[in-house]
Amino acid sequence: MAALSETDPCSFSQPKVCAVTNIHLALTVDFSTRVLSGYVLIEATKKAEHATLLVLDCKDITIHKVTDERSGQDLKFCLGTAVDPFGSKLEITLPPVTGKSVSVKIEYETSPQCSALQWLTPEQTAGKRQPYLFSQCQAIHARSLVPCQDTPAVKSPYTAEIIAPKDIVILMSAIRQGCEDIPGDCTKKVHKFEQKVPIPTYLIAIVGGDLEYRDIGPRSKVWSEKEMVDKAAYEFAETENMLKTAESLMGPYVWGQYDLLVLPPSFPFGGMENPCLTFVTPTLLAGDRSLADVVAHEITHSWTGNLVTNNSPDHFWLNEGHTTFLERKVTARLHSGEKFRQFMALDGWKDLKDAVETIGPKHDHTKLVLDLRGVDPDDAFSTVPYEKGFALLFYLETLLGGPDVFEKFLRAYIENFKLQSIDSNQWKDFLFSYFKDKISILETVDWNTWFYGVGMPPVKPQYDTSLADICHQLGDRWSAASDGDLSAFSPTDLSNLSSVQVRQFLNHLLQQPPLSVAKLEKMEELYQLMKVQNSEVHFRWLRLCIRGEWSQAIAPALKFVSDQGRMKFVRPLYREMYQWEVARPAAVENFKKQRPTMHNTTASLVAKDLHLK
Ligand code: BES
Ligand code: ZN
Repeated sequence: MAALSETDPCSFSQPKVCAVTNIHLALTVDFSTRVLSGYVLIEATKKAEHATLLVLDCKDITIHKVTDERSGQDLKFCLGTAVDPFGSKLEITLPPVTGKSVSVKIEYETSPQCSALQWLTPEQTAGKRQPYLFSQCQAIHARSLVPCQDTPAVKSPYTAEIIAPKDIVILMSAIRQGCEDIPGDCTKKVHKFEQKVPIPTYLIAIVGGDLEYRDIGPRSKVWSEKEMVDKAAYEFAETENMLKTAESLMGPYVWGQYDLLVLPPSFPFGGMENPCLTFVTPTLLAGDRSLADVVAHEITHSWTGNLVTNNSPDHFWLNEGHTTFLERKVTARLHSGEKFRQFMALDGWKDLKDAVETIGPKHDHTKLVLDLRGVDPDDAFSTVPYEKGFALLFYLETLLGGPDVFEKFLRAYIENFKLQSIDSNQWKDFLFSYFKDKISILETVDWNTWFYGVGMPPVKPQYDTSLADICHQLGDRWSAASDGDLSAFSPTDLSNLSSVQVRQFLNHLLQQPPLSVAKLEKMEELYQLMKVQNSEVHFRWLRLCIRGEWSQAIAPALKFVSDQGRMKFVRPLYREMYQWEVARPAAVENFKKQRPTMHNTTASLVAKDLHLK
């Protein structure tokens, strides 16, 4: 295998030799061939004196021509053999220049297999009027959209001009600069964008479809197909409050606009922090704003992730651990305060335990700092960086003097590293320099185990359990009850619980031995959980039913994994069905039927979960 770069195990690029400083995209969207074609203009700076090559990442892309933008001369290029899932190394021979900066034009087209893009037919959309297209570049899919230095160690601003059929609205992770007619071609329009803040390539994003918007705040619109735009505007009405709360913790929001886009159900994640335009799954539309904490999470990435960025996927916890930690501060401030924060933290600890058990307690992917040499980051993705990262920050907060002290540190951390990409040691060095009066305390931390140890963290934080106790007590009562006498339970058991508490009640049961079918039937009769709209509750309930081998749950579980494609829901449910030989054939058959219209990434990961391929 060709050598990958020194600092980022998932990229071929060599930014220490020559680094990209600006990107301009000029592309035409063709729904009939499922191809984007046009060119990218890359400006780069030579970092090494005798630099002769600009090295880029490239995956399933056809390069037509590479030229020196200044002289118009052809440039030699060499595309290496493809290595799955990293793609190939594209080496461009630099033009002879006097200064340090070069400008290279690459004419290219993507392929229909482009792993960053999902193309939907009109029939696959809510409105069934127009086709749809959306991207998901994190972690290493940007290279299938555009030849680039696809490592988060490199940041650059970008501009774009996208030509698309006239009835399609195009949006990107940037500020809209308008949409214009094309002289002589009334079938298409050109959409212009500018992202002035330097960003890593995984934050490049594009969507095209029959989109509408509603204003939801002074700097925010929510976009979606018109079928759900009003519901979305209601669900995310708290966006501006979240932004203001986040600013009070972390400093000014520098990105100008903060819009939300509600994607079709196949969107594989809960949310994606594309700058200026967060992407979210429609499974957040619970009707009661109860799942908007995902928006608080993506808003928080505007600082931790998008301003201060992990410099390789190995240090992904810097993005997600800090974001999870600060997201919980934002939601706690907006809602029920410190008790709520600790309640969510406890939930996170359970998720971490679950993840460690699923991955295997000795597995490398349970480490906080990863080593992804030769590993597909999509395969390594888990809640570990989120929750182990959270647990470390919570532990440090307690150790170093509490929220006031630690919040000041986090703000200083952002101020110090904004617009940069860093690794875990730079974070740790800054922590030590900030708390130079508390070095003796910091030295009591078992850093080696926190960073590089497998399994659960070395310290279990003490969380306040006052909001969780009621959930656990109810769960324990169900576990302890005998099948023959379930008369002590009633529909009102849940009436004083918030939806996050119901979630917690189900989580608690998921950590106990499977429930009997008699109990599951009774629970459904009393609580009607199959009818609950909240996707987080619905998911946990189905999981519990499948685990308890209740055959009547197979059909609704299959429906749930087919109606939406959020990996957090789809993968555990498919795995759960696979475990049970009665559900297994139906699960496999269902997957095979769905596969052609599923999102690429989801389909290949579920295939692995089902031991196909
Ligand atoms: N950046 C992530 C999503 C992501 C991570 C996509 C890695 C691809 C590779 C996003 O911010 C995220 O964490 N989303 C979560 C929501 C959250 C509240 C934990 C999700 O999708 O569930
Ligand atoms: Zn995140």
